[in-house]
Parts: sequence; C-alpha cells; structure tokens
Amino acid sequence: MTVLSWKAPSWSFLAFWLLWSLASARTPPAAAVASAHPAATEAGMEILRAGGNAFDAAVAVSAALAVVEPYSSGLGGGGFWLLHRASDGRQVMIDGRERAPLAAQREMYLDEKGEVVPGLSIDGPLAAGIPGEPAALAHIARRYGRLPLARSLAPAIRLAREGFEVDAHYRRMARFRLGVLRRHASTRGIFLKEGEVPPLGWRIRQPGLARTLEQLAEKGREGFYAGPVARKLVNSVRRHGGIWTLEDLKAYRVVEREPIVGRYRGYRVVTAAPPSSGGVVLVEMLNMLAQKQLARLSEADHIHFMIEVMRRAYFDRARYLGDPDQVEMPLQKLLSEEHARRWVAGIHMDRATSSAALDFPKREGQDTTHFSIIDREGNRVAATLSINYPFGSGFVAEGTGVLLNDEMDDFSAKPGAANVYGLVGNEANAIAPGRRMLSSMTPTFVEHPEGVAILGTPGGSRIITMVLLGLLEFIEGHGPSDWVSRKRFHHQYLPDQVQFEPGAFSSRVRRRLEEKGHVLKPLERPYGNMQAVFWDRKGNRVEAASDPRGIGLASVLPENIQPR
Ligand code: GLY
Repeated sequence: MTVLSWKAPSWSFLAFWLLWSLASARTPPAAAVASAHPAATEAGMEILRAGGNAFDAAVAVSAALAVVEPYSSGLGGGGFWLLHRASDGRQVMIDGRERAPLAAQREMYLDEKGEVVPGLSIDGPLAAGIPGEPAALAHIARRYGRLPLARSLAPAIRLAREGFEVDAHYRRMARFRLGVLRRHASTRGIFLKEGEVPPLGWRIRQPGLARTLEQLAEKGREGFYAGPVARKLVNSVRRHGGIWTLEDLKAYRVVEREPIVGRYRGYRVVTAAPPSSGGVVLVEMLNMLAQKQLARLSEADHIHFMIEVMRRAYFDRARYLGDPDQVEMPLQKLLSEEHARRWVAGIHMDRATSSAALDFPKREGQDTTHFSIIDREGNRVAATLSINYPFGSGFVAEGTGVLLNDEMDDFSAKPGAANVYGLVGNEANAIAPGRRMLSSMTPTFVEHPEGVAILGTPGGSRIITMVLLGLLEFIEGHGPSDWVSRKRFHHQYLPDQVQFEPGAFSSRVRRRLEEKGHVLKPLERPYGNMQAVFWDRKGNRVEAASDPRGIGLASVLPENIQPR
C-alpha cells in the first residue's frame, strides 16, 4: 500500500476548515449520478432508488458501462474507484488496474532488431493485461456496499441480455476499429452486423456476457477468476497467441491505496495514486501554479505558464512513475513545494522551453470512461475505468462475452518509444511479470467547506490536464456545466507541442504563444468526456453535469431537485 505523508496542513488551515464545515450542510439534499451513457446513469439511479448507497450504485454503473460502452471499459479491463465514506470520512482508491501476465517479458513487443512491432501491444490477446474490474466490483460491493452484489449487477445483466441500441457514437468507434473487430469471429459476431458497422438502432445483445456477469453475481470474484469462466478465458487467449495462465487469474488482487492529497488555494484535492500518474501529475501542476500570481498575467501569459507547467509535470511522469509495488518513486520530492519552486524558477515568461532541453533522453484517448456519484449520506465515488484503446484488444474470449483490454500498451515497450498516445516512459514503467502498467486516469474530489466537486474524464494522456482545467473552473466559482464544457488545451512534454480544441485560443493568444516559441497543434475535433457532480454545501444543493462532447447523462435524485 502506498502511504504518502506529504505536507501537514497548518493549524490555521484546519481551524478554518472545521469552523466552516460546521456552518455548512452536513449531508447532501439529493443524490446524483453522471456517467458517459444514459443506460448506465439509469442503472445507478435504479440502485439508489432501491436503497443502495453510492458504492452499490458505482458497481451498477461500472457493470452497465461494461455492457453499453464496449469501446471504453469492461469486465475485460480495469480502473480506479476513488471512494469517500461519509460515516467515518475514509478515503481510499480501489486499484483494479490490470497486471502484466506472469509470463510477460520486457521485450515481448520488440522484433529481432529491437524495434517495436506495430500493433502487437494493441490488437489481439497478446495485448491484454489480467483484468481487474470484476475483482474490484466484488470488493466494493462486499466491503463498502449495502446491497448484495447480485442486486447491483442486475441492471447490467438485463442490458446484456435485452441489448442496447447502436447510436452514432458507437458507429464512430466501431468504424475506427473495424479492422480488428472483423479479425476474430467471437468479436465480429457481437459487435458487427455481417462484418460491417451496424446501422443506427441495431440492437447489440450479449448473452455470453450476461452469463459471465451472472457467474460473478452468484460466486463473487471466484465466478470470474476461477472455475469455468477462468478456464474459458485462458484457453481462448492461448489458442489465439496470448500468454495468460490460470495462475494469473488466481493471483490477481485489487489493492486499496491511499489517495494522493494536495492543497491549492484553500482547496483540498483528493486524487488518484500510482499506478496512475494522474494524481501526482495533477498535484505537481497545482503546486507550480500556486507559485504564481495568475490573476496578474495577461491571457496569453497565463496560458503560456500553464503549458510550461504541464510540460514539466509530464516530464516527471515519463521519468519517474510506474507500479508502486515494484518500483521506487521519489513521490515525496515530486509533491513538495520545493520541487515546484525549482521547476517554476526555470520557466521563462517570454519564451517556450524546448522539451528536448529538459534532461531526459528517452520515451493513452477517445475511449476509457468516467462516472461521478454522490448519495444522500454524502458517500462519493469518482471512477475512471478503461480497456485502453477503443474496443480494447478487439478480442472477445470465446464462450465468455468478455472483450479484453489492450492495456499492455500503457507500458513503455522500449525506453523512449512512444505508445499509442504518444507518451514516453522508461525503466519505471518497463514490462515486468505481474506489474501494473502506468495509467493517466485521474478520478478526483476537490473539497472545500463550501462545496465538493467530484470529477474525471477519459482521454488518454490528456486526462490529467482536462481534470486540471475542470478543477480550476470549480475553484474560480463556476458550476459543473462549465467544468465539463470548458475548451481544452494540453502539453505532455513529448511530443513538444501544444494540442488544443477548436476555439480554445483566440487568434491573438495563438500569435502570442507562437511568438514565445510554442509549436501549436490545432486538433480537428474536441476531446474528453467529463462527468461531474457538485455538492454545493453553502447553497444546500446538488448539481451534476455530463460533457456536451459525449452522449452521457447526469441525473439528480429526487428528480424534483433541479440542477441550476
Ligand atoms: N489506458 C488509459 C490509462 O490508463 O491511462
């Protein structure tokens, strides 16, 4: 377990918090769910109405997303569930991240010349890590939920059996991965119609997945990691070139990890711990931003400073971060004010730093998913789940309905070589048997006596900067619909370029950034799919918002309490 004691809050900070908290509402007037798909939000609401708490609802939403968003997450994948339990204030990150199979080897994706073989860590069962989501759902239900696992899984089982309708987003994702979806009969027969992207309104039914979910509902984690489901998974993976064994499944464990905690201008930020890089990079960026009087800067200088901050935090990601159970990471140093001060001292306000000049010689999307939940007791969940690239590895293990991840690509196949998201890494994130691959997923709570934000998003390497921008909107006093819709920009150290959404920068700001030496990379399409919940303790209301870029749904219960 990673335990971080980073910076003790001052007595005046604690006294301020205590007094203000006593004056604010103690429990939310409503519950809320925001997720990337209306059927998943509805599954969560069904469980809340049935007397479940936020943790039961999280199990229901995760499992429903596994059915209706097969391009984003699933039983064949993993994720991080950040929990806050109101009764005792316990905050914990459930690490259900995939692990490398025990037979994995450091150079398994390289050819004889030592070059990365394109596609090998992305398509097919060799790209799949050992899934963590089924174990995480059983764990959350058992340790934190109020309802039986079988009750919380019921909406997903129904959705898998009765099917869901293909929408425009599904069609876009399926078109993007058509090649790999056609490759395996077990996948083709579920997600395509006669080998083609199904038409709008076509019903995707997954009876095999329904049976696997029923095994999980009946037997808990043993229903997936042992017995007939495990045997089918392993046999099918091995028949098609993968390296899983029954021992891999038996040995898989979720880990409860202490979240990363930071402080920024009076707000407490609770976020993902390694093996996600998200929390460390987020808190590093906030620590650097805290060094500057941002309000005094022109718009262009403000954005320039933020880009430089992103560049440096992503540099540390590439250099230092990996699986906390297998690698030593200087987390205390990375999260210190001193480290932030040093980085900021090297930022020139008149010109961009070249990423190549940062001393590091070597080397995630439109998929993944996030949901945010609060219940009437004040329990909260922020969860980001993934199978990595859209439709993961594109391989459904025969007889299980389980679409496997391609999370092995989140390892650094070779120092300095970019993964599918252009991210580089080194030793700390090299492939090793049983190791968890580094992630960018950043489920986050931002706490203040006046209100609590629950947020996160998919988006590969850009997740962390999206969470930063959403969090800053909250701190500036905006509501959740602004956090999720804000225009986005991103820098990740390498490639050395500023990526930005259409409309993110005015032409004046673009000119100023170019004059400072930034390489601008306008993106053709918006990115991200943020799902957010806000408990306004001062105003005694709950609001929720779903990113307008996606097809998600935010709902508040009781329904008669309307978001602003
Ligand atoms: N596969 C995306 C991530 O974990 O960051």
